[in-house]
Amino acid sequence: MGQIIIDGGARLQGTVTVGGAKNAALKEMVAAILVPGRHQLNNVPDIADVALMGELLSHIGCRLQREGTTLWIVSPERLNPEAPLELVRKMRASIVVLGPLLARCGEARVALPGGDDLGARPIDMHLEGLQQMGASFRLSHGVLEGEAVNGLAGAEIELSFPSVGATENLMLAGVAAKGETIIVNAAREPEIVDLARHLNAMGASVTGEGTPMLHVIGTPNLSPAEHTVIPDRLEAGTYAIAGAITGGDVTVTGCSPTLLRMELSKLEDAGCQVRKGEDWLRIEGPERPQPIDFVTLPYPGFHTDLHPQMVALLTVASGTSIVTENLYDSRFRYVGELARMGADISIESQHAVIRGKRELSGCPVLAPDIRAGAALVLAGLRAEGTTVVGDVYHIDRGYNGLVDKLRAMGAAIARSD
Ligand code: UD1
Repeated sequence: MGQIIIDGGARLQGTVTVGGAKNAALKEMVAAILVPGRHQLNNVPDIADVALMGELLSHIGCRLQREGTTLWIVSPERLNPEAPLELVRKMRASIVVLGPLLARCGEARVALPGGDDLGARPIDMHLEGLQQMGASFRLSHGVLEGEAVNGLAGAEIELSFPSVGATENLMLAGVAAKGETIIVNAAREPEIVDLARHLNAMGASVTGEGTPMLHVIGTPNLSPAEHTVIPDRLEAGTYAIAGAITGGDVTVTGCSPTLLRMELSKLEDAGCQVRKGEDWLRIEGPERPQPIDFVTLPYPGFHTDLHPQMVALLTVASGTSIVTENLYDSRFRYVGELARMGADISIESQHAVIRGKRELSGCPVLAPDIRAGAALVLAGLRAEGTTVVGDVYHIDRGYNGLVDKLRAMGAAIARSD
């Protein structure tokens, strides 16, 4: 399954460049379903989830070609409107094909994703929204069969929570539906803004992106377009925290610091010096971080996908920090692994109390998911002795070249497969 082996203690110094945003690229690939022809995406990260989404689109009938960070997707006239269980299970984001398949084909069969590493993760808001647009669903042998006999029609949909996936699914359906769709309490994540820009380049009319009220006017006249994916703020944030946890001096380029406002301000509170320009940031970590409290929230709040990396940092802070997780019910599963390294963390429902220790001590640990895997690597950079992170395939889902990038900044790190 692959391992990352780290000899802790090196102070990271240097520059690292981030790739395109996983969570934008995946949905922008799906947009190719909406209209036949050759679509072009630039700055697409070379990570396992992008390969999986490629497999799913191939299953649906698309042809994909990649050169460097450019990906072309050729969408055929006739699609096979189904997402099989083996792909949906490996990557929950597959559910986002549901809306565009219904809009384009009037039918879709998508295996029900079920829970995953982060908890139950229902899709009720996706389904209720699509039902309001005229779709009907039935569950048959674990497969969700959707139908929109008269096509999808615009509707006013109020989300009970600003779900990223539901907003995207409904937006992708809305651009090809008849009439206007209004999404109230829409998610405001930068990846949604980027998807809206991509759809508008295809001839769609999406306005209000980045606000809680999205207006989408459907059109039959979409056409393929070229779009460049925004930088990955989660990859950038992970390297910033790597700089912080090693007391290092790390410059992250090709990123967008304005998309990390909350996270960078929390790093400053923890005693880091942060400097930034339009597309770079530089972080100098303190010898020992200050304790801080933070709460994960939808954008522009602290991103839940940077929570485990930040907790890794706080395990060596000079006091007690409290972290509240509001997005997922099982996000704290990695805490037991950090405890094996000597971290002192107690969990009380969705709160973690982290009592900072002077040192962590390296040992074998297992990556439970993408971001917690990265957090364990960061903890290993700080720990005394050798840390071996197993189940590295989780990390590969979201990071390209993590080991090489950290090694280039001075980390004693290697990978064995
Ligand atoms: C996306 C990101 C993920 C990130 C999350 C929150 C991708 C591929 N993944 O996931 O990395 O952590 O946004 O920023 O872009 N929920 C429901 N019912 C629904 C939909 C969601 O109860 O119909 C719940 C989920 O179980 C979860 C919470 O809402 O607890 C947030 O989910 P959502 O915003 O939809 O996240 P994803 O799109 O799955």
